[in-house]
Amino acid sequence: MCGIIGFTGNLEAKKVLLGGLQALEYRGYDSAGIAYVDKFGIQTVKTTGKVSNLLEKVEQSNGLDSNCGIGHTRWATHGGVSDTNSHPHSCGNVTIIHNGIIENYHELETELAATGRHPISQTDTEIAAMLFDSLYQGDAVDTIKKAVTKLEGAYAFCILFSDQPGVIYCIRNGSPLVATHATDGSFIASDMVALIDYSKEYFVVPEKHIVTMTADEIVVTTLTGEVIAPKMLYVNWDMTAAKKGGYPHFMLKEIFEQPDSLRNTIMPRIKKGHLPDFSTDNIPDSLYDGINRIIITACGTAMHAGLVGRVLLEKLVRIPVTVEIASEFRYGDPVLDSSTLVITLSQSGETADTLAAIRLAKEKNAKTLSIVNVKGSSIARESDYVLYTHAGPEIAVASTKAYTAQLSCLYLLSFHYALVKGMITEEECANYIGHLQAVIPAIEKTLTLDKTIDEICQSLAKTEDLFFIGRGLDYALSCEGSIKLKEISYIHSEAYAAGELKHGTLSLVTEGIPVISLATQSNVYSKMISNIREVRARGAMVILITNGHLDVEETIYDHHIALTELDDLFAPFTAAIVLQLIAYYTSVHRGLNVDQPRNLAKSVTVE
Ligand code: F6R
Repeated sequence: MCGIIGFTGNLEAKKVLLGGLQALEYRGYDSAGIAYVDKFGIQTVKTTGKVSNLLEKVEQSNGLDSNCGIGHTRWATHGGVSDTNSHPHSCGNVTIIHNGIIENYHELETELAATGRHPISQTDTEIAAMLFDSLYQGDAVDTIKKAVTKLEGAYAFCILFSDQPGVIYCIRNGSPLVATHATDGSFIASDMVALIDYSKEYFVVPEKHIVTMTADEIVVTTLTGEVIAPKMLYVNWDMTAAKKGGYPHFMLKEIFEQPDSLRNTIMPRIKKGHLPDFSTDNIPDSLYDGINRIIITACGTAMHAGLVGRVLLEKLVRIPVTVEIASEFRYGDPVLDSSTLVITLSQSGETADTLAAIRLAKEKNAKTLSIVNVKGSSIARESDYVLYTHAGPEIAVASTKAYTAQLSCLYLLSFHYALVKGMITEEECANYIGHLQAVIPAIEKTLTLDKTIDEICQSLAKTEDLFFIGRGLDYALSCEGSIKLKEISYIHSEAYAAGELKHGTLSLVTEGIPVISLATQSNVYSKMISNIREVRARGAMVILITNGHLDVEETIYDHHIALTELDDLFAPFTAAIVLQLIAYYTSVHRGLNVDQPRNLAKSVTVE
């Protein structure tokens, strides 16, 4: 969702704010704006479009001689995309930027009308600015305390008061904020990617605590006025990880980073002679005691990783597993108790529906384990146990390396769980771990197919509809291939369990329609071949993806991609790479903005 940055110190605010907004642009990119404090008061520059548009506008406005300011990239929720609706918003003494949704903004607007305050935009944020202004009598902390009792919904605010130059106040509830004080001053942002140039040390702003930032220090207080010392965290990646590094797009860079992100995620958890070990993650073996059911819940791509996890856990641990879309799960009155383990998956660790799913699970006494990429994120903090994926920052909106890192954690978890429960022997477990390690060189080899895939995608880019089909693990992969293609190429596609096609959907398969057919699983290979023949008989253009060791008849495909040979259970890793490259090159051939597809944003912190 929206990106926030704030700075006060001894650097040029323009440089910090605009640089930060460029780094945060992946979070929201329909408009951008900054407010800065100079000798004339608080000045605002904002515009629709990309941060580059804002840059131009800032260059045109003379001056901007300031060491304190706030900046925002927007992903519209309330009110369309317009200059007026862009942040910052001001009312009287107050100028704010906001990430989140104020749910009771209508009621507040009616109340505030009685004080003579009327919005000029259609945003909930401007109503919040009006609220802060209506409560302000010179004491910012008191104003924020009072405002918090009235605001409902999720928010992260940075607030400037015109009579307090050089001071930025912040508060958050649900929406992310991290902060750091470094030699050049005090910094706050939605995400460390905006601050990594200045510090590797930071803290996650605790919810509903007031942050007061000056050039000299950051003070964090509770709503009752107690000063607290927030827990410091360290970023274990450097600036190069948050830059394109010679690749044309972040997505391609992140696809190619997967051997490393998997190595970083898997290797520290293999100990004791090739057995999985979660002791450094503080996950005790007793986590599995008394569990008779697992629910995996997440959104989008993370949920698709869960579909693969289900197959693994059921096969190896022999425990029933269901996979639920988090936004359905949270309102679905699920049956949960202390014998249920709820596993959530999230790259950002801030996805509102996934977070709500954890809260619901805990309320009903289920045990919770999350697989998360962002350290110290809300989902990580609120879960009983966390397995971090060490994928590094994922900037492209389409998730790639986080997905395969999530898969690797689910594989490790399945092996560990099965071993602890005595479902597999140490020898069998070590054998599985060996196969998992073999995935890394296999992915390296698969990445060399990128030129071949690029060529195939030239024709795919011309289509408006296509299908992905597969069975078992390949069906789970088809769901992922389909969302990836849709989100960045805007081609309509459907993922179908291959056996289900003839129950309705086959009527859509006509001459020339591409059908990306995943056939990596030996146990259903002959069934898949029959399904492929069915679509070919209706004129489909078949792109066949098989595991290296399977025999393939030339008459059943138009294009064939043979994956590096892996044990069938591990083929999702290499298949995922091919599907990611298909989505990537198709989007490139359609001339689209791969990293920032329309209407989407990276971290979905609203429902
Ligand atoms: C698709 C994609 C989304 C996310 C989903 C969950 O490429 O990135 O579907 O997977 O929004 O986000 P996280 O993993 O941050 O909870």
